[in-house]
This record gives sequence, C-alpha cells and structure tokens, in this order.
Amino acid sequence: MQVYTTIRELREALEEKRREGKRIGLVPTMGFLHAGHASLLERARRESDTVVLSIFVNPTQFGPNEDLDRYPRDPEGDLRLARDNGVDYVFMPEPSEMYPRPSATGIAVSGITSVLCGASRPGHFDGVALVVSKLFHIVKPHRAYFGMKDAQQVAVITRMVEDLNLDVEIVPCPIVREDSGLALSSRNVYLSDEEKRQALVLSESLSRSPIWLQEAGGDALALQKQIAEHIAKTPLADIDYVQVLTYPDLERPTTAAAAKSAWIIALAVRFGKTRLIDNRLLSLEELALAAPPIPQGTKGV
Ligand code: PAF
Repeated sequence: MQVYTTIRELREALEEKRREGKRIGLVPTMGFLHAGHASLLERARRESDTVVLSIFVNPTQFGPNEDLDRYPRDPEGDLRLARDNGVDYVFMPEPSEMYPRPSATGIAVSGITSVLCGASRPGHFDGVALVVSKLFHIVKPHRAYFGMKDAQQVAVITRMVEDLNLDVEIVPCPIVREDSGLALSSRNVYLSDEEKRQALVLSESLSRSPIWLQEAGGDALALQKQIAEHIAKTPLADIDYVQVLTYPDLERPTTAAAAKSAWIIALAVRFGKTRLIDNRLLSLEELALAAPPIPQGTKGV
C-alpha cells in the first residue's frame, strides 16, 4: 500500500495503472474510518483492479459554526483499516495541497440541495460537490463508492455526474448498522452511553415506518407526523428534520398509491451536541403494499 500526500505523485502512479488497462475504484472519505467505510472498500476491492482511498477532512463543506476543528481524526487507525481492506493507494493531502488558494470556481447542484441537510447546512453540498469533482479529476476513477447513510449526498453527486457528463459510475452502498440498529458514523464517538441508547429511536422509527405508512392509508405527511411525534417522545432527542420525500429527486410525495418513484424517510436529530442522520428508502413495491386497496367497482377505470 502506498500513501501519497501530493496530487502529482498520485497522478503519476495512477497514470501507469491506466496505461496497463486497470479499473480504478475510488472511496472518498474524511477519515476516522469504521466498518461502514470498510464495507465500501470491500466492494471497491471486489469490483476494481486498483483501489484508491482518499482521506481528507474537506474544509469547504463545513459551515462557520460547524465541527471542522472538532472532527475526529485517527490517521494511524485509518491506515491500518486501509491495509486490512486491501487498499492500493491512500491519498491524504493537506488542505494546502487541495486548496493552494481559495477556489474561485464552484459547483452548485440546485433543487435537491435546498431540502434536508442542504436547508440546515447552507453551502455544505457546494463544498461536497467541489471536493468530489476535484477528486474525480485527480483520480479519474472508473467507479466511486458512497454510503447511503448520506443519501442526499449520493443524490447530489449522482446528479452532478449526470449533469456534467463525468465519466465515472457512482455506486451507492447500503448503510452499515451496529447490532443495536444504530447507523455507523464517525460522529457516534461523541455520544454518551445514554445518548447512544436514546439514539436507537431513529433506526426503530425507520423499521416501524412501513407499518405506520399502511396505518396512515399510504399518506406521506401522516407518516412524517407519526415519526416526528414518536421521536419527540425521546427526552434527549432534538429534531432537526423528519421528512418523507421522493428519491432521488427529493420532492414532496402525496400518497403511496400515486408514487412513481421510491420514497426516502430522512431523519436528522441532535442528541446533546451530536447531530445524527439516518434514513430508509421505501421501494415502489413497499409503497404498493402500503397503498389502500382500490374500491370494488373502480378497478381498471
Ligand atoms: O461523506 C464524506 O465523508 C464526505 O462528504 C466526502 C464525500 C468524502 C467529501 O468530502
């Protein structure tokens, strides 16, 4: 495994691989790696000849009052996990390597960034889109792997790739959870034992939502209300948002019966100082199950 801190060295190494016709898989991360990242690396390892892991806490995606300085870091642990998961190249640049001066060029994906985390973290997805497109230009991967825990990020990056005709396939990978149901996140280390116990209300609400949707006659807003009321009963939970939207367009749906695309149930809730996100997709098949039966005599009309 080679570790590079400069764009020039990484490019040289990858140029050779490309000349040999190797398929390159990229897993972009901000480090403090856990089993969720390991699952992305495993998938990349299975599907690529050369696996590149980038570790870069990207300043442009943090707002002025966000946790950039507090963001957890563990370079040695990260390199161990990378080695254990068969990574070929680790790219660990300093901020001055990625941004020798403030970027005068920006990338803004509109519409889908005005809801969910985009609404509560203005500018966040501009920073994500900028750094991910820089990484795509530096690494030129055939495929790039992203976790569905940040489903809005996956939607934004997929849309950017589509709109700009970037020659890379985005591979969304399933959320990895602890046995308790808590979605793995680098931010979980900040939770006290009690906050961690109460945070289970997120995965529990997501598991119950197909039943709640059926009970609500397939109505999206009623499901949203039911989930928010359930989470609000948890003393340490401070809701940022509970939203049911279409996926990947992130528009307001009406009823399961009228659904033309999957839905996402997206949650962002603070426990103490720690803001957790979690989500569940409801496929068209699951939505059809939740839709009330068509009244007798109107079938086929
Ligand atoms: O999901 C992350 O860790 C970051 O947003 C990403 C995609 C590495 C960009 O900095």
